[in-house]
Parts: sequence; structure tokens; C-alpha cells
Amino acid sequence: MDSQNDGEINSIGNNSLRDTCTGPRNNKNDDPSAMVTPWNVEGQVDYDRLIKEFGTQPINAEIMEQFKKLTGEVHPLLKLHYFFSHRDLDFILHKIENGEKIYLYTGRGPSGMVHMGHLMPWMFTKYLQDKFGSKLLFQITDDEKFLSSPDRTNEEIKRFTYENILDIISMGFDPNNTKIIVDTVHIKHIYPIALEIAKRITFSTSKAVFGFSGSTNIGMIGFPPIQAAPCFMPSIIEGRPTPVLIPAAIDQDPYWRITRDVAERMGYYKPAQIHSKFLPSLNATGGKMSSSKPETAVFTTDEPEVIEKKVLGAYTGGQATVALQRLYGGNALGCPVFWYLRYFFDDQKKSDERFVRCISGDLLCGECKSDLAEESKSFITTLKMRREKAKDSIQEYMYENEPLE
Ligand code: TYM
Repeated sequence: MDSQNDGEINSIGNNSLRDTCTGPRNNKNDDPSAMVTPWNVEGQVDYDRLIKEFGTQPINAEIMEQFKKLTGEVHPLLKLHYFFSHRDLDFILHKIENGEKIYLYTGRGPSGMVHMGHLMPWMFTKYLQDKFGSKLLFQITDDEKFLSSPDRTNEEIKRFTYENILDIISMGFDPNNTKIIVDTVHIKHIYPIALEIAKRITFSTSKAVFGFSGSTNIGMIGFPPIQAAPCFMPSIIEGRPTPVLIPAAIDQDPYWRITRDVAERMGYYKPAQIHSKFLPSLNATGGKMSSSKPETAVFTTDEPEVIEKKVLGAYTGGQATVALQRLYGGNALGCPVFWYLRYFFDDQKKSDERFVRCISGDLLCGECKSDLAEESKSFITTLKMRREKAKDSIQEYMYENEPLE
């Protein structure tokens, strides 16, 4: 096996427009209330600090060069540092360079409808699948979402599972190379591996990694091996150690830490990760766009008038009055509308111009909001048509073609 170290950390590279916009919009990087867990993102996330705290690696010029060698280009989400951190991505890219097949693995916890933030890692996963011809496992952790909220019922989660699958299929993943695993449906394929993982993780490790306490229900405490299991399923399917790359936002990283810890002891490669930032909340309360806080997010099922209302009512980095905005300029770096446009819709040149016009007071928030509302409405309208079509191909995408019911 090539070496897979959880080694030294370098500082993040060429990141001139640094995204710190997920929380109280003061552009300071020392928010003591900031928190990133798989179930909650609060406050102003300092992504450089996360790299250090989580012990991951920044995506640097060398990695971008490796990508360029393999794909002939650097994807805009890499150039913009939306995907900003990784573990063992260099190892995965070497494997691809040597002609070895890798698997992709990503997922969704069906706690509500899908919003545009969720689509970011999925669109990038689809790009990687197209470029590298990779097989993809897509896990739906309906069990996790049942356990993680006292109020959610199984019926609700079943409905969200179905609706979320339509979004996943509408991303256009290759049906011959993509399998969706719904935990409660496909548990027999997951459980034997999850047991092997569970046996190797102590409660104190899991408490330290996930912050579990005496009041956490025991279902949650037992859940992490279920999300870890698909990291090793490709090796079992292929009958030999198979490298796996996980594209996801950085909130999922605790799962991969415990998985990497046991991988080599179980005879598998450590799963590699490429971590993204978060699409910020549209709301002044900060944090990430979240399906359990509908006012913070644009959903793939929102009607045009709802999108318009959410976007026009969004928090911005603008001054209190037009006169002040003209005088002092806006705070683009603290503005969710700016980041949303930059990551989703603007190309880099347009976004850089928007930035300069904003901070110089030439641009008012109304123009940015109107651009974002128009772009979002048109994007969601197209996606809705694809969701409709997806209804006919659910079974084709399911693991072992097993029906959802
Ligand atoms: P979930 O449903 O919370 O999120 C699904 C994916 O979306 C990412 N994400 C975001 N990305 C950008 N901006 C946001 N505002 C935002 N909110 C969420 C998440 O990082 C994730 O990639 N436990 C998981 C489900 C899961 C999974 C996986 C995710 C199972 N296996 C493997 C990633 C990879 C969950 O509840 O994700």
C-alpha cells in the first residue's frame, strides 16, 4: 500500500478572497461560539483554523497541478478554494494516474428537503465521476436523522428519503456506476462491516470525536460505524483493497477520523476526503444553510415566489443606507449573497468585479439580490423538471436494485 499519513499541516495557500462568512458578520476570525459538528454548524467558521484543529491538509498548488495533469483543467470550485481541505487526495490522484480505479462515496441525511448547499458536493462528485469514470456509493442515513432529533418521525423521514432521492438522481449521476444505499433498506449489506468497525472503536474515542455525553441517546452513540461502513464496501465488492474518495463539506469529517483510525487494522485503505466549505445561511443568524432551518436556505422544491422572497429578504454585507453604502462601500466578505453568487453562479471574473464594485460603494445590495433571485429561480425550475423525470428511475439507482418499500 502507498503510505497514507495523517501528517503535518501546512497553512492554506493562495486564498485572497477568504470566505469566513457563515456566522455573525463581523469578519473577525475569533468567534468563540463557532462550532462545526455533523449535526450543527454555528457562528463564524474559520476554515484555516479547522484545517489545524481537524488535522487535515490544505488544497495547495501541488494538488491543483495534479488535478490539471489528469483532467486538463482546474475546476472552479477548487480554484475558488470552495473545496479547501483534504486527506490523502494526493494518494487518490496517484492511484488514478497509475490507472487504478477508485470509488467515490458521498451521502445525505434526510432531515428535510434538499437545499442548494447540499447540491455543491454532489455536483462536484458528479464532475469527478464523469472525469474519472468512477463508481459511486451514495448513502442515505435515514437512521441517523431519526435518532438525531427527538421530534422527527419515521413517516416524515421516509417522505424526505423519497424526495431527496429525486434530487440525487436529478444531479445526473451515471446510473450504471451509481448505487444509492438507504440504511434501513440495505442494512444487511452494511451491518456486517459496521460490526467489525464498531468492535474497534471505544466509547471514549467516540465521545471525544463526536462530543457524545450522558444524555445522548444510545442509538446515536452506535450510529457512526454505519456511516463508516460504505468506506470499506468497495473493497468487499471488488474483492481487493480499493481506494475511496469522499467529497463532502467539512462537517462530516469526524466520521472519517474514526474510520481512518481502524482502516489499516482491518486491511483496507484509509478513506480519502476532499472537504468543502459551507454555503452560508441567508439569514442574519449565521451558520450554514440548513434544511432544519428553512428560512436560511433555498430548497430545490421552492416555488419561484418563495425563492424571490427569501433572497430579497436575505442578510447582506451592505450599509444601513444607500448614502453610507456609497461612502464606505459594502462588506462583500461578510455577505452570504456575495458568496452564494460566487460559488454557484458567477464566474471568477464576474465575481471579482462584483467584489470591487461592492467594497467601493459602486454596487448596491438590491442588484446582487436581484441577480441571485433570477439565477436561483431559473436553476431550480430546470432542476424541478429533472426531479420529475427521476421518479421513473429510482429502482435502477438503488443498491442491488432493491425497491425502496
Ligand atoms: P447532510 O444531509 O447533512 O448533508 C449532505 C451533504 O451536504 C453537505 N452540506 C453542505 N454543503 C455546503 N453547504 C451547506 N450549507 C451544507 N450543508 C450540508 C454535507 O457536508 C454533506 O456532504 N450524515 C450525512 C449523510 C452521509 C454522508 C456520507 C455525507 C452519509 N454518508 C458520506 C457525506 C459523505 C448527513 O447528514 O449529510
